[in-house]
Amino acid sequence: MTHATPPATTDQGQAPVAGVPDRNLALELVRATEAAAIRAVPFIGKGDKIAVDRAAVDAMRAFLATVSFDGVVVIGEGEKDEAPMLFNGEKVGNGEGPACDVAVDPVDGTSMAAAGRQNALSVIAVSDRGAMLDASSVFYMDKLVTGPEGRGVVDIRKPVGENIRALAGALGKQPEEVVVAILDRPRHEDLVRQIREAGAGTRLLLDGDVAGGINAARPGTRIDMCVGIGGSPEGVTTACAVKALGGFMQGVLAPKDDAERERGLAAGLRMDHVYEVDDLVAGENAFFVATGVTDSGLLEGVRHIDGIIRTESIVLRTKSGTVRRVIAEHPASKWL
Ligand code: FBP
Repeated sequence: MTHATPPATTDQGQAPVAGVPDRNLALELVRATEAAAIRAVPFIGKGDKIAVDRAAVDAMRAFLATVSFDGVVVIGEGEKDEAPMLFNGEKVGNGEGPACDVAVDPVDGTSMAAAGRQNALSVIAVSDRGAMLDASSVFYMDKLVTGPEGRGVVDIRKPVGENIRALAGALGKQPEEVVVAILDRPRHEDLVRQIREAGAGTRLLLDGDVAGGINAARPGTRIDMCVGIGGSPEGVTTACAVKALGGFMQGVLAPKDDAERERGLAAGLRMDHVYEVDDLVAGENAFFVATGVTDSGLLEGVRHIDGIIRTESIVLRTKSGTVRRVIAEHPASKWL
């Protein structure tokens, strides 16, 4: 049997969407984040973050292997704390189909999941091969994320108070109404003080600045801006989502010491340089999927009720700008 080329138009002669519909890889990748989230559940609140990560990594790796693509992990996760990881350079997918860069964070917020706290997500981002910035030699990145209103209005080089006032103007709000998400870390004490001096409120994140960034980029959330230093892998992953959401993002690498700075320079990275969202992930062919592990403002965590495991995911694609929420009900008997 031969496969007919799908029609470019409907019977009425209209294009089904603007252009011929093509494959949305993210709709297949979501099975891998769902699986990682489900497998992490037995370890939620048990105090062992390595066990959370290991369960999620194993499930994600197995499901990625079923997807027709030729993926290479560019942004792996775990080096920081020697967690089990999908390592940089690891091949994922079945090796057939499009050549892609892959960023994985089987659980962003492993400590929170291990502690039984909210805000843990399982995340995968994919782009064309060579499109993602390989920032793996410098662990931290200073980030600024807003919705589209921030474009041409805020700049990571400016003091945060100035950015808050400018964004408030663009949003038609008072600075007092602006809410800024930031990781709750001693390194951010001064930044938090400046945010509050500008009149804005903070949402202090115990962990998980991917969700913080996405909420800043999405319309209709309580977060207007996400700032501060978090992981650079998470920065590149967030950039894929921000691009698909049409938001604004900048990042500056923040090496911990001279040795890391030198390693970054040797790897071709630029220090004291503002990476725009298109530098973090180039092109218009990026995909982002996330499944809630525990509840967050972005997604519900995994629920197990009456023999059904329920997952909630968000599926984003740069090319179409489509934002999908995928609720899946998995028979628990299949996951025993
Ligand atoms: P993991 O759970 O994946 O290790 O990351 C959690 C996280 O909070 C990220 O969201 C954030 O970018 C990074 O850690 C911040 O690092 P640190 O905890 O060292 O400040």
